[in-house]
Amino acid sequence: MEERRPRARRSTGVPTGGAAAVRPQRLADVAALRTGRMLTGIGELDRVTGGGLVPGSILLIGGEPGIGKSTLMLQVCSRLVQEGMSALYVTGEESVEQVRLRAERLGVNLERMFVLSAVEIDEVKAAIEELSPALVVIDSIQTVYSGALASAPGSVGQVRECTAELSRQAKCRRMVVFVVGHVTKYGAIAGPKTLEHMVDTVLYFEGESFQQYRIVRAAKNRYGSTNEIGVFEMTETGLVEVENPSVFFLSDRRADTSGSAVVATVEGTRSLLVEVQALVASTPFAVPQRVATGFDARRLNMLICVIERRAGISAAGKDVFINVAGGLRLTEPAADLATVAAIASSVRDLPLPADMVFVGEVGLAGEVRRVGRIENRLTEASRLGFRRALVPRGVLSRMRVPAGFEAVAVETVAEAFGQAGLG
Ligand code: TYD
Ligand code: MG
Repeated sequence: MEERRPRARRSTGVPTGGAAAVRPQRLADVAALRTGRMLTGIGELDRVTGGGLVPGSILLIGGEPGIGKSTLMLQVCSRLVQEGMSALYVTGEESVEQVRLRAERLGVNLERMFVLSAVEIDEVKAAIEELSPALVVIDSIQTVYSGALASAPGSVGQVRECTAELSRQAKCRRMVVFVVGHVTKYGAIAGPKTLEHMVDTVLYFEGESFQQYRIVRAAKNRYGSTNEIGVFEMTETGLVEVENPSVFFLSDRRADTSGSAVVATVEGTRSLLVEVQALVASTPFAVPQRVATGFDARRLNMLICVIERRAGISAAGKDVFINVAGGLRLTEPAADLATVAAIASSVRDLPLPADMVFVGEVGLAGEVRRVGRIENRLTEASRLGFRRALVPRGVLSRMRVPAGFEAVAVETVAEAFGQAGLG
C-alpha cells in the first residue's frame, strides 16, 4: 500500500494553548470542558450520543447502503438549521438536485442549509472556511479524497487522511462533523472500521433495510455511554423516533405459539423487552442447520448442547433457527435463558406462559448465572403488562420487585423449564 506521508506532521491544528500545554499540568488547572451540547431535538439520537452533539467532535455514522444514513443526516441538519445554526452537507453520492429533492420531502428549511457536491478535501475545507457552519456532514467518507495522495477515493489511506483532516477542522473550529461510512455485511473494504479510533463517537445502524425499524447503536462514545441505542421507524417522511420500543418489539408477537420467549434485555441505560423466536424442525440435510439472526451463532450452538446434556431437551438431527424479532442484535448473555426457553418450547411444541419474561445467563453446567440490572428489567416487564419473570438465584435479595409482579429464582435450566411448564 502506498500511504504517502501526508504533507507535514508539524501541526495538528488542535489549539494547544501555547507553551504551557507541552508541560505537565495539574488536572485541576486544566480548564473544565464546556460541554454545551447541541441538542438535535431527535430524542433517540440525543440519547445515543449521550445527550446531544458536542461541539468540536467528529462522529462516524456507519451502516449498510439503504439503511437510512443520509436520511438521518438530513434530518439532523434540518433540526439544527431550524435552531438558527448553519449546516454544510457535502454530498459525494447523490447530486445536489437529488439532495434538494429529498430535503424538500423531509421538510428541511432550505435557506440556511448549504450543500456542496465536492469530493476533494481541500474544496471541503475551503467551503468550511467560507461558511463557518456549526455542522458539517460528509456523505460519504468513501467519496472524498485528498489530492496529496495517489490512491483512489475509498482506499484506506484516503479515508484515514480525510478523516484526520476533518477531525482537525472539527477541533479547531468547534464544529460538529458527521462522517458517513458504508459498511457491507461482511465488513467493507477500507470500511469505517479503520476509522473507529480516529473519531470521538461511532454510531452504527443495525437491522435490515427491508424492515421498518432502524436501530442506531453507539459503538464508541467519548462523550457518553456506549451501547446506548436509538430506535427509529422509517416512514414516508423520514425516520421517526420510536418512543416506546418495547411495545414496538413485541407488537407482532403471538404468545400462543411455541418457540416464542420474551427477554428483558438492557441496552445502554434502558431496559427493552424483546421477543426471541426459535424454530426446531427435522432436517432434510445430513448436517443440521443452526441459523441465528440477531444472536451469536456460536453461542447458539453452545446453548443447544447445554440443554441437551443438562435438561434432556434434544435438537439432535434437527434444524434450529433463532430470530430476534425487530432486527435487534442481542449481545448480552442475559438473553441466554430466553433463547433456551424458546428452543425448548419449540422442541416440546408447547407455548411458554404468555405473561412470563426470562432473564439470565446460561453456563456450561446448565446453571442460570447472575446478570445485572434486574430491577430495571422487571420494572420494564411489569410496565408492559407481564406478571412473572424467571431470574437467576441470588439477585432478588437487594431489590424491590414491582407490585403485583412475581420473580421466580431458578438455579438451572432444567428448573427453569419446569417453572415455564415445559417440564
Ligand atoms: P438513505 O438514507 O438514502 O440510506 P443510506 O444513506 O444509508 O444509503 O435511505 C434509505 C431508504 O429509505 C431508501 O431506500 C428510501 C427510504 N426512505 C423512506 O422510506 N422515507 C424517506 O423519507 C426517505 C428520505 C427515504
Ligand atoms: Mg446515502
